[in-house]
Amino acid sequence: MNKTPIIIDVDTGIDDAVSIVVALQSDKLDIRGITTVAGNQTIEKTTRNTLDIVEYFGRDDIPVAKGYSKPLVRDQIIAAYAHGESGLGTAKLPTAKKQPHDLDAVSFMKKTLEESNDKITLVPTGPLTNIAILLLSYPHIKDKIEKIVLMGGGAYEGNSTSTAEFNIFADPESANIVFSSGVKIVMCGLDVTMKAIVTYNEIKNIMATGTKAGEFCGEAFKFYYDMYKKGSRIDGCAVHDAVTMAYLIKPEIITAKPANVKIDIDGKNSYACTATDFRPWRDISKDNALVCLDIDREAFVDIILDACKNYK
Ligand code: RIB
Ligand code: CA
Repeated sequence: MNKTPIIIDVDTGIDDAVSIVVALQSDKLDIRGITTVAGNQTIEKTTRNTLDIVEYFGRDDIPVAKGYSKPLVRDQIIAAYAHGESGLGTAKLPTAKKQPHDLDAVSFMKKTLEESNDKITLVPTGPLTNIAILLLSYPHIKDKIEKIVLMGGGAYEGNSTSTAEFNIFADPESANIVFSSGVKIVMCGLDVTMKAIVTYNEIKNIMATGTKAGEFCGEAFKFYYDMYKKGSRIDGCAVHDAVTMAYLIKPEIITAKPANVKIDIDGKNSYACTATDFRPWRDISKDNALVCLDIDREAFVDIILDACKNYK
């Protein structure tokens, strides 16, 4: 079976970690590398977490390249309230022996894309700083990018503010560069990811798989679940980033519509909004994204459960 070549760009945090576990386990994905960016936590911690996860699950063959530590223009924000001081909640992993790749994230992506025989799909699940700088520094590289399947934004929802989602809010100027680059985008925003809920009982089932992956994800979910319980009073937690992998592994469980998405970089109350135009009379030649809106929740949870259950 032809595997989809991908480079994952993460701000490993808890849902990034679960998304990486799903990707490592999938026989549909060919992971050419993982790049890190500051977001949920500092670049040091997101890189540390990513190196540790990849080595813990026996995949230190996958290069991890360290990226940008700050957003392009705005002041830095991190989400320790949602992912804890380490970025992985209460989950603890052995410190990986392997160091980050010699190249920085942007140089690594450029080299990997240039040397690849086939186009590569980029899967960013954090702020878009690395991706923006790649596109700005090496415009020719767009021809080697199949598409960008990202977690970010929301046509009708915000979380960092009423109109902005964290990954966009943390670096709106970079998001603006990416969304106006002309590269095909699949936007897994809050409209779909807030339906990608793993409930308390399903977390217990994930733990009960008894595998390394089940125990790690279950432990990582604890902090995340408590945060959601306090904040949104839902019985579960939204595994935002893993929706990108669900889209790549089982696109049929996701409903999406084309749209023109613009990033607000100068609004007072709408700063970092992903202004999404679905109006039937819009100029569809300007559509730049496929916006995901709905998901078969049970099928989504099964993707995570199966990844944990089958982990050797
Ligand atoms: O808004 C959710 C996003 O912000 C996810 O990518 C989560 O990991 C945080 O980065
Ligand atoms: Ca993330």
